[in-house]
Amino acid sequence: KRHLISAADLSRDDALLVLDTAEELAQIADRSIKKLPTLRGRTVVNLFFEDSTRTRISFEAAAKRLSADVINFSAKGSSVSKGESLKDTALTLEAMGADAVVIRHSAAGAPHRLATWVRGSVINAGDGTHEHPTQALLDAFTMRRRLGDLDGRRVTIVGDVLHSRVARSNVLLLNTLGAEVTLVAPPTLLPVAVDSWPCSVSYDLDAELPKSDVVMMLRVQRERMNAAYFPTVREYSRRYGLDAERVAKLPEHAIVMHPGPMNRGVEIAAEVADSPRSTVTEQVTNGVSARMAVLYLLLGGSEPAIGKEVSE
Ligand code: CP
Repeated sequence: KRHLISAADLSRDDALLVLDTAEELAQIADRSIKKLPTLRGRTVVNLFFEDSTRTRISFEAAAKRLSADVINFSAKGSSVSKGESLKDTALTLEAMGADAVVIRHSAAGAPHRLATWVRGSVINAGDGTHEHPTQALLDAFTMRRRLGDLDGRRVTIVGDVLHSRVARSNVLLLNTLGAEVTLVAPPTLLPVAVDSWPCSVSYDLDAELPKSDVVMMLRVQRERMNAAYFPTVREYSRRYGLDAERVAKLPEHAIVMHPGPMNRGVEIAAEVADSPRSTVTEQVTNGVSARMAVLYLLLGGSEPAIGKEVSE
């Protein structure tokens, strides 16, 4: 049994297999073939303890397009409010039969623990500030569709890196795929361990833009931070926000990404978010193909084709 808990669980061959499979699936969808029978009889449980719009809907759409049965669980309105633990919740859902459990949780490490309790494959849909590997896969897929091979491409990731599971998973996956990543953030919004990450760090966004093939803006996660981390919105936008003036410094082919949800007017100006350079809605569309690829490669064959085993 194999799982997808970290972007580091994917070798270069695994990552390329996911991207190639996502491309095939996207092309099938483009031919108006809406549903494939591949996972008929399999059950995918979406176990969401933290809010989500894109990821939850995307996993549901992906599983349904592969003809899997889908059980959606959200902590709100469940017996979690009566104090039921993650383990008991997971075992209850597993008793209904789950070939894969897609989990989002506020605690880093929750998907790893879950993998030691359940029989199905666990897919991390975001755990605290730790990782969000399928976001990194859909981002890499979007970059590859727009720019071709990622080897040697320069990706600048900007903003609240400290609280961003998207940034960490992207750094790991893009490094595996041969891209060069630079993080740009205020010093207070960088993790202490960033020196050990496979990327560079800069505090000067304007200097990085002309060298970037991709600029990825991160959401300022006000709900996870205390005021000492954050200057004022106006000061943050002035130094680290992406407006039209800054976009003009990018090479002509460069794209602007944001995983969503966006704070328009904080990390990204509305006119930039809505411009042809922006891949924000494309990322959402591509998310379904990327997640179909992950589900197919974990559950579709007699043995999983990707992922990592987990021991206690
Ligand atoms: N990008 C992303 O994870 O969005 P949601 O929180 O809406 O799932």
